[in-house]
Amino acid sequence: MKSVSILLTLTVFLYTISWSANIISHGEKHFLHYKFTVLTKSDTFPEFSAVCVYDDRRIKHFSNEGGVWILTEEDWTNTGQMEDPADPIDWFLHQIKTLSNCTGSQCPELHTFQRIIGCELEKLPDGSVNLTVFDEYGFDGEDLISFHYDTMQWIDKSPKAKRTKVEWDRHTGRNQFIKDFLKNCTDWISTYNSRKKTPV
Ligand SMILES: *[C@@H]1O[C@H](CO)[C@@H](O)[C@H](O)[C@H]1NC(C)=O
Ligand SMILES: *[C@@H]1O[C@H](CO)[C@@H](O)[C@H](O)[C@H]1NC(C)=O
Ligand SMILES: *[C@@H]1O[C@H](CO)[C@@H](O)[C@H](O)[C@H]1NC(C)=O
Repeated sequence: MKSVSILLTLTVFLYTISWSANIISHGEKHFLHYKFTVLTKSDTFPEFSAVCVYDDRRIKHFSNEGGVWILTEEDWTNTGQMEDPADPIDWFLHQIKTLSNCTGSQCPELHTFQRIIGCELEKLPDGSVNLTVFDEYGFDGEDLISFHYDTMQWIDKSPKAKRTKVEWDRHTGRNQFIKDFLKNCTDWISTYNSRKKTPV
């Protein structure tokens, strides 16, 4: 029962924040994103998980034991100068505990905290390219907060995110890192896809 409701929550969440990556259109589309999921109750699920996906290929996952990213696809040519998102597990646990009002090391209720960061490239029918970047967060299946690339500030999408926004806006070092990450993501996805298309 619980697993079904979690999957449902995740599905609904991913659907609500989806940027139409799955919608079939005439334009060619590619995306690279890192997805993080944190659950307060970890008796049946890992409390933290993270994967990196390129289109429908899972290219890396985060090893909680080793504390490092592990390549899943052996033939994957890596993403060059692009660093992985740097927030440690403790940062994610702190966010979910704060949002869930949990004080001790355990939370009595099930809560979910999710993040999706990355970029998307779409070739439009007129031949131009639409590049989009995102760093979006959800709590309990609802949109919470998202990054605004140009201003490097946070947009609260829920009353629950008001305090988070004020706090995160002040973390200028982190915001700069996210901006650099997103910039590198668009550089990488553009060059990777133009290289792939070059006839040999
Ligand atoms: C946490 O506490 C705040 C303020 O007391 C409340 O508005 C919010 O709904 C609580 N969150 C949860 C998940 O219970
Ligand atoms: C570019 O992509 C974003 C995200 O998919 C979309 O919202 C926007 O409408 C697109 N712009 C154009 C010009 O197609
Ligand atoms: C972005 O790319 C530059 C090199 O172009 C690299 O030095 C930097 O560490 C990268 N930053 C991130 C956050 O990926």
